[in-house]
Amino acid sequence: MFNTHDSLWIHQAHLVGDQGQLQPCHVGIRDGKIAEITIEDRRSAYDQVLDAQGWLLLPGVIDAQVHFREPGLEHKEDLHTASRACARGGVTSFLEMPNTRPLTIDQATLDDKLQRAAQKSLVNYGFFIGATRYNLEELNRVQPTCGIKIFMGSMHGDLLVDDPEVLERIFATGKRLIAVHAENHQRILERRQQFAQELHRPDVHSDIQDEIAALQATELAVQLSIKYQRRLHILHLSTALEVEFLRQHKCPWITVEVTPQHLLLNRSAYFTLGSLAQMNPPLRTPHDNEVLWQGLQDGVIDFMATDHAPHTLAEKARPYPDSPSGMPGVETFLPLMLTQAKKGRCTLAQVVQWLSTKPAQAYGIVNKGKIALGYDADLVLVDWEHEQPVRREELQTKCGWSPFEGWVLTGWPQVTIVGGQIVYYQGQFNEAVRGKPLQFQA
Ligand code: DOR
Repeated sequence: MFNTHDSLWIHQAHLVGDQGQLQPCHVGIRDGKIAEITIEDRRSAYDQVLDAQGWLLLPGVIDAQVHFREPGLEHKEDLHTASRACARGGVTSFLEMPNTRPLTIDQATLDDKLQRAAQKSLVNYGFFIGATRYNLEELNRVQPTCGIKIFMGSMHGDLLVDDPEVLERIFATGKRLIAVHAENHQRILERRQQFAQELHRPDVHSDIQDEIAALQATELAVQLSIKYQRRLHILHLSTALEVEFLRQHKCPWITVEVTPQHLLLNRSAYFTLGSLAQMNPPLRTPHDNEVLWQGLQDGVIDFMATDHAPHTLAEKARPYPDSPSGMPGVETFLPLMLTQAKKGRCTLAQVVQWLSTKPAQAYGIVNKGKIALGYDADLVLVDWEHEQPVRREELQTKCGWSPFEGWVLTGWPQVTIVGGQIVYYQGQFNEAVRGKPLQFQA
């Protein structure tokens, strides 16, 4: 199954049409690209044949927000383990965040990550450059990068940029995409004092980092983006208030993302998961879940990403507020959303748009996000009929847990293909495959 080959024939799959209709087809791949999509049996013209058994063939997922912890925090995750989790989850490309050790804030630290990924990653990769108060020139100079990440709150040390003057200078200088983690740091600090006597309460985190903290930072980022006509992406939107604000004020150069956990989990999760439910921005209420779904359905929210942010169980077991924020996600992303499609909450065509096509468009990722002639053969075959629970022992992420353990999901990847090579096949990994650096349109 894992022979290297120049050409691959995927026999008898189903494509998801634009209107969600399932179309039987075969797909031919040559030199890592999609060479034909056909109903004729032309398998004899190819080196290797993969029997797709009628499974759904989807474009590989592009997870545009992950924290893979290398270098410096490899006890939680590294680029190899994370990329195995990606392969198992049908994620064929990722965009990774700069809060590693050292921080990714200049060309040398970016080059180091690119080299490590070239050696270790089974899937394709791109990296953000992190904004500090002192690296304005590097932000616009380093190559290649998917964009500038600003933590407006929820971060300590050099990556925290909460000073309005510094923020204004970053928005005013250069053209590159700016992606923001929008929470008002000052408000969070004040509310930590206010809630100091209630830290034992399981859901206090959502009160400290409240919806107003998120709204205020989102408002500021949008205001700066409009003032300087600067390309802005708002990461992991979490509140109904932000959806309503963006419905009024979003303009064509602003895009917005939501995570599965902000759609599917809410504050009640603290009472079952404890600090495993703790993340930034925090989980909100069922009302927020509903309005986020609505925003995604009507296009206020453009696409989805996981914010895969693994921490060890020992770290998570520390008492709040010493328990770190974040949860893993790449492995469960696609099955969670295909299960939602199965339940009728969204369509298969929307899942393809939200997990592959739109993130590729938003970040200008060249040649990815669609199943079309000439596009890169980053693909995933899923069995949409077979149900299976999320099981801890099967997880590939180094942290070894998931907030979705026990959830019965359908649409687990059976085969994942990166650049025309089979990297994952029903529980087995092809360790010979390596991803490539993503290319971004200027
Ligand atoms: O919950 C989170 N964890 N949110 C972030 O923005 C950072 C992340 C992490 O790196 O652990």
